[in-house]
Amino acid sequence: MITLSDIRFSEIFAQRPMDMRFPSIAAMERAAQRRTPKFAWDYTSGGIGDEQGRARNISAFHDIRFMPQYLREIPPVDLTTEILGQTHAAPFAPGPVGLTGLMWPNAPLHIMRAAASHGLPSGLSSVATSSLEEGGEILGRNLWFQLYPMKDEAAEQDILKRFEAVGGEVLLVTVDVPGQTRRARDVGNGLAVPPRQDWRTWARGAMRPRWAVETFFNGMPSFKTVERYNAGDTAQNAFDFLKEIFYGHCDIEKLKKYREWWPGKIVVKGLLSLEDVRTAMDVGIDGVIVSNHGGRQLDAAPTAVEVLPQIRQLVGGKMAVLADGGVRTGLDIAKYLALGADFVLLGRPMVFAVCAAGPEGPPHAIEILKQELSTTLNQIGCPDYRDLAKFVFHP
Ligand code: FNR
Repeated sequence: MITLSDIRFSEIFAQRPMDMRFPSIAAMERAAQRRTPKFAWDYTSGGIGDEQGRARNISAFHDIRFMPQYLREIPPVDLTTEILGQTHAAPFAPGPVGLTGLMWPNAPLHIMRAAASHGLPSGLSSVATSSLEEGGEILGRNLWFQLYPMKDEAAEQDILKRFEAVGGEVLLVTVDVPGQTRRARDVGNGLAVPPRQDWRTWARGAMRPRWAVETFFNGMPSFKTVERYNAGDTAQNAFDFLKEIFYGHCDIEKLKKYREWWPGKIVVKGLLSLEDVRTAMDVGIDGVIVSNHGGRQLDAAPTAVEVLPQIRQLVGGKMAVLADGGVRTGLDIAKYLALGADFVLLGRPMVFAVCAAGPEGPPHAIEILKQELSTTLNQIGCPDYRDLAKFVFHP
């Protein structure tokens, strides 16, 4: 018979282990939506237009299959990777995502710390809500700083000097935001930085008490890397200031300048066409990130899944080829690697992870993806992810 003293109340009321609370990135995504106000959720999860591009980024993976081979012994799976002159524990990492502090205070710091603890690099956006100096302190040479081309060359050179000073080596130049973007959800929500101080914002914040308390104690997010280049008044809306400082189309002359100014590796982010990849190669760029910016720029743009094989074929071994968009599982990462990516970046999943579980979220998300990727490789019978292309099933 069970007596009262047999019951371990501490176990009954203890918080369940992370793996039980969040067994997948999808579980973290659901929790993130429950914990963040609508305007912040819409900004992060949404895309442009009807959001078909965003949906396609995910569905594009569905028709890719692997043929497993069971009847042979294989060595243990090894995820270690060499890319852009660096060695990392796995062939994936958080990519640059701007304004994440709106979703959860200090989100970029939590994400960068998670990457560092897992032996991975991490992207940091020009419009991140943590500074590149904070990033450098956490990641050193494994901080991959992302630059949006700016109008003011002195400011650009200053940023590059700051990046060099923190030990940065890999510069990501994002070229797929050549002008202002109109996303219906954000327009409808009146998204502003800092958020509008009206009853709607307060009401939406009040419905997400944990977010409201954290934001109250940490303050409103700001663009910590670039705000110093603002000569005017940003009190009303920092988006207006961003419109002022960024450049437009990053032409070949601009790329050549970066090549001249930056002594480390340069990776151009946001390319989809073979013509653009050829141009990047001609300028002596070290790598490209095949990406449609998470379906946030052009709803009818192809997915990285669709164009990656041709780009790999064009590039051969001359440049690093990275890819992003739609990754929600380790199996998705395996599919990008099989299609020709050397390395894969994650956008929204890392932000969902912070919103779901605070600082504990991002390291857990990376652990999920590492385990899913390893078990996928083991299941296929492919211990080296570089061989995955051989296992793609063509019915
Ligand atoms: C982005 N992305 C992005 N890219 C970049 O180079 N600089 C940036 O500041 C941002 N900001 C940003 C904000 C938000 C809210 C999202 C969702 C995305 C694009 C990002 O790096 C990446 O290309 C996509 O997010 C990849 O798609 P998934 O992983 O989100 O599906």
